[in-house]
Amino acid sequence: MIFLGLASNYSFQDVLRHSFALGSNRDYNNLERALAEKYAAPLEKTSLIYSGRSAISLALKSFIASGKLHTGDSVVINSFTCHAVLEAVKSAGLKPVFADLERLKTGEILPNYSATTLASLVKTNKTVRAFILQNTFGLPVNIKSFETVRKKYNLLLLEDLAHCAGRKYPDGREIGTVGDATCLSFGKGKSLDTITGGAVLLRNPDLSFPKSFSKSALKKRRKTGDVPRASWYPLLGAIARGLSYLHLEKFWLGFLLKTHWLERSADTKLDESTTVTNWQSRLALRQLETLSTTAKTPLRRYFLVDDRDTCLKELRNHGARLEESWYEVPVSPVRYYPSVHFPETSCPNAVFFASHVINLPTWYTSPAKQKQVKLAEKILKSHALKPEDQHA
Ligand SMILES: Cc1ncc(COP(=O)(O)O)c(C=O)c1O
Repeated sequence: MIFLGLASNYSFQDVLRHSFALGSNRDYNNLERALAEKYAAPLEKTSLIYSGRSAISLALKSFIASGKLHTGDSVVINSFTCHAVLEAVKSAGLKPVFADLERLKTGEILPNYSATTLASLVKTNKTVRAFILQNTFGLPVNIKSFETVRKKYNLLLLEDLAHCAGRKYPDGREIGTVGDATCLSFGKGKSLDTITGGAVLLRNPDLSFPKSFSKSALKKRRKTGDVPRASWYPLLGAIARGLSYLHLEKFWLGFLLKTHWLERSADTKLDESTTVTNWQSRLALRQLETLSTTAKTPLRRYFLVDDRDTCLKELRNHGARLEESWYEVPVSPVRYYPSVHFPETSCPNAVFFASHVINLPTWYTSPAKQKQVKLAEKILKSHALKPEDQHA
């Protein structure tokens, strides 16, 4: 079987390495140093933190603290995203403005918004002062056209690397080396994955962390409460994958959620007062060192299909469990969607994309698994919508 969730991107060795990892202060400091160097940010303006959403929130608060943004200003975000991004924008006291996904002349919808859409949002909403690029699935945007809009309207750019660490823009620059701030998530299934964790880097020399934030105090408050859960997660996931052959995984997952050994990704905390552990830093550093190889392919591939439920059923019958696709609603997960009050009429492309998308894993390397991926791809292609049919 092939899977999207449950740490299915972990090999048996990864599971063991993760569950028994040890680390020291040196690993924590080395990771911060390596990130600062890679993304050309001063070390004192680079910090590890508890999650990707905490990183985005802190970066946005830094924009405010440095006088570049004001509370109540608006930030443009992708209309096909995780609730975490919305949560981060709101927690900084800013307003999210959703940019609809780009539609090409052929009719094909892409998973990112375009620079043209950004420009029109800025023109109609004078409170827009910043935008977030997430390069969904690791599919890069045309950064040059975004830079033109950014310059024209004097906007701040936050690059969110949750999906795209190690990937490059079409002009060859690495994602994360262009904007005013760069944020990483080390959450489950992300480009760097230590189950929880993140990093924030202020690249623009005019920016500083808010006075209320202290890197050294954060380091001292390193959280240990999550340690057992985060360290055993890949092992618990491997057990769930094993049980799925007997159709028993639902009971196991239900038990883990009830006993809080498992936390849904969307429920990761936004917490700027805690940070990753030393052993997570060690694992993240190791992944960072091999990122130029692992990020050669996008994080996930995607297909828009005619009837998702029918297609998922057929995939399941052929051993492909692809239910955990990103994202099943424009702002995922479904259980938070009603509270978002998403502007569906102004983002029709996102609504269509989210109701037809299925992801395909890119991380399987064994010939047997690759054969299963190929079979799943064949099924997906037989259901795939042509560009001209990608509309309601
Ligand atoms: C595009 C994107 N950015 C940021 C995040 C936040 O990451 P974290 O879960 O580490 O807070 C997520 C997912 O959760 C995401 O999908």
